[in-house]
Amino acid sequence: MTTATTTGHEGGARKRWTARVLTLLPEAFPGLLGLSLAGRALRDGLWHLEAVDIRGFATDRHRTVDDTPFGGGPGMVLRPDIVAAAIDASLADATAAGENRRVIYLSPRGRVIDQKLVRELAAADGFILVCGRFEGVDQRVLDARAIEEVSLGDFVLSGGEPAAVALIDAIVRLLPGVMGDAASSEDESFEHGLLEYPHYTRPQTWEGRAVPDILLSGHHADIRRWRREQAETITQQRRPDLWSRYAPNHTKRG
Ligand SMILES: C[S@@+](CC[C@H](N)C(=O)[O-])C[C@H]1O[C@@H](n2cnc3c(N)ncnc32)[C@H](O)[C@@H]1O
Repeated sequence: MTTATTTGHEGGARKRWTARVLTLLPEAFPGLLGLSLAGRALRDGLWHLEAVDIRGFATDRHRTVDDTPFGGGPGMVLRPDIVAAAIDASLADATAAGENRRVIYLSPRGRVIDQKLVRELAAADGFILVCGRFEGVDQRVLDARAIEEVSLGDFVLSGGEPAAVALIDAIVRLLPGVMGDAASSEDESFEHGLLEYPHYTRPQTWEGRAVPDILLSGHHADIRRWRREQAETITQQRRPDLWSRYAPNHTKRG
């Protein structure tokens, strides 16, 4: 039994990138993903979203999905049998659709999401995302289904849904046809191992602050060089971890 909210249209020749999100809050989707760039792409059939209600796989009349932790301690744990049933139904749907069967559990213990992972996930044809709640998911279902854990960062959310929205948003904007200007992702933070250079727009002077002269010069090669230098300086100052990976291969400053 799958209780899914399906959003998006049937697409063209290329297999549509599909996110199947297992959650106790299916009404949270598409949420932000139904707006702006991602929402337009969803309505245009450039990607596809299924929010699957984990509670739909409960077997008792109270639709129970959690229980107290063995060994004691606070909070509740999502039961392995219920979560596994939800995952297996989505795996069967993904297999029937000829889609990628990668299953990811959003968890503060996981590999922290970066642009490299986002690109890798965008290059596949989709995934199954498990959103935890309460204290999380029984370890046995993670082991039994060889589930990868990925994290939004070193902090604790109350559920996996905000992380799912963030991850899907980052992926969808890289899908073919989603961003109007195909070049617009190429200069962005992390694409070349650097944070992005600063941006300026009108008015040319604001509160006594002028736009850097170089940007008004019309010399495109000089502007490119200035932006690269700005990106390097900002990365060196703010993210020594990124800089130490970038510098040895790109600069004499490293
Ligand atoms: C309250 S948290 C559980 C935290 C868990 N007891 C711990 O200390 O690691 C509930 C759910 O939120 C999600 N979550 C919390 N923080 C997250 C993060 N940084 N990245 C991704 N998901 C997160 C996970 O799905 C988790 O199962």
